Amino acid sequence: MDIAVIGSNMVDLISYIDKMPKEGETLEAPDFKIGCGGKGANQAVAAAKMGSKVMMVTKIGDDLFADKTMENLESYGIDTEFTSKVHGTSSGVAPIFVDRESRNRILIIKGANQYLLPEDVDSAAEKLKKCSLIVLQLEIPHQTIYRAIEFGNEHRIPVILNPAPASKDLDFDYVGKCDYFIPNESELELLTGMPVESKEQIVAAAFTLIDKGVKNVIVTMGNRGVMWVMKEKFYSIDSYKVDAIDTTGAGDAFIGCFAHFLVQHGDVLHALKLATAFAALSVTKQGTQSSYPSVEELEQFMKI
Ligand code: RIB
Repeated sequence: MDIAVIGSNMVDLISYIDKMPKEGETLEAPDFKIGCGGKGANQAVAAAKMGSKVMMVTKIGDDLFADKTMENLESYGIDTEFTSKVHGTSSGVAPIFVDRESRNRILIIKGANQYLLPEDVDSAAEKLKKCSLIVLQLEIPHQTIYRAIEFGNEHRIPVILNPAPASKDLDFDYVGKCDYFIPNESELELLTGMPVESKEQIVAAAFTLIDKGVKNVIVTMGNRGVMWVMKEKFYSIDSYKVDAIDTTGAGDAFIGCFAHFLVQHGDVLHALKLATAFAALSVTKQGTQSSYPSVEELEQFMKI
């Protein structure tokens, strides 16, 4: 197994809107899509689409979305041995609103994802030990994330932590034990309390996390590209210019693709460049997982 994603799955209910209704107002919106999402599942799918062998440790609900979620993961060849149902609970769902400028607003109802517990990490231990990388986000209980970080450290498996959605309650003793910490600008701002308007400010904020023990801080900055910060040095990776129609799940696309190329080649800069291209392609289509390109599409794009 190449990659273990220990994290969330959701069903995305995406409304494409001209504007948000005011209180008490009813407005018509031009389009709607339903699809499989959740930051964990999106990252797993992105890595699997690039060719990684991926396992997912996750919890699904006990409703009409559950079987569809399982089928979806399996359709990408993702190992679901440790994907299980929580009886009497809804699946995670995410009502999402995407406006004409391709900006999104996301609500999450965690549902079954709340029941992914530290003991679920230990139940999957034998299979997890064979993975080359563990990928984590924050849509599951923090105690489970901390157990997964400890597990990675105990078995010398590198850990990626994507602190999304943003949370101020993260325990930095654990964050410092991650190999790759991948926030976006607003998550970095919330976690450090520092301004993140300019690239210089982003580097300064990221260095405070390096001082806390994180080896690599990778800040995703949307159309401003990516900043990779390490002890005493940093690299800026430019974004690709594309016509964005839906940016939902682009951060997850980036992380899953980065995880894949990191495991395959171990060259961080190369992996970051490919992940930046993969994420750029994802914003040119509607939806989350449904917008992720194939290997052929990524190769074609890199030739231009
Ligand atoms: O990052 C995008 C994802 O956030 C969506 O797929 C939604 O499910 C929420 O988890």
